[in-house]
Amino acid sequence: MGCPVRKVFGHGEGSALLGEPKRAAEIVKALKKGDKPVTVKMRLGIADKSAAVDFAKEMEQAGADLITVHGRTREQLYGGEADWDEIRKIAAAVSIPVLGNGDVREDNLKERMDGVYGIAIGRGAVENPQIFSGERKLTRYEVFLKHLEYGEEYFGERYVTTTLRGFVPFYLKGLPNIKSVRNAAMVCKDKESLLAVLEGI
Ligand SMILES: Cc1cc2nc3c(=O)[nH]c(=O)nc-3n(C[C@H](O)[C@H](O)[C@H](O)COP(=O)(O)O)c2cc1C
Repeated sequence: MGCPVRKVFGHGEGSALLGEPKRAAEIVKALKKGDKPVTVKMRLGIADKSAAVDFAKEMEQAGADLITVHGRTREQLYGGEADWDEIRKIAAAVSIPVLGNGDVREDNLKERMDGVYGIAIGRGAVENPQIFSGERKLTRYEVFLKHLEYGEEYFGERYVTTTLRGFVPFYLKGLPNIKSVRNAAMVCKDKESLLAVLEGI
């Protein structure tokens, strides 16, 4: 319930559900008929944040087992700053675990953990895979290989040539002379050619 892109939002899906809490609750209730935990990923609202806490409570009442809150509105897309005060307000208002999400980077990771059950890291992880490292620091390429391996295992072979390619710009961010690598990656049709293009990043 966070995706802001037009083709998803325009169909009443993703972050559009933030404007339809009853429908969102029905979805959670329906999923709860299965035997798996049900988690909700939400933003703070479509244009304003005033209903964020109520929306989270509604998800809890519907049976959600965990909520991840991306601290932006749909209108903000991926710009501006995530509102961590609002994320913590939600975490305090519900009794299920809340993961905070938005702008977590290595240098603010510890303070982000305050007042939430845990954190979910998006771009900060693909730009800087080391964020998860303990003693052993993985290189970007090693993280990319793991991403590929898990993606293929979980979603199937098509993941590698569709979704995974979309992450390439994030893996390259901050590196010099990336344009040609990025362009070459975008036209890769199979795993082998993608690996060859990215080797050594
Ligand atoms: C390329 C890209 C793809 C994403 N795909 C998904 C997705 O499939 N499902 C989802 O819940 N969030 C998705 N997100 C949103 C992230 O999970 C996260 O909520 C958002 O980027 C904010 O966190 P960050 O500031 O740490 O990146 C995506 C974000 C990006 C940049």
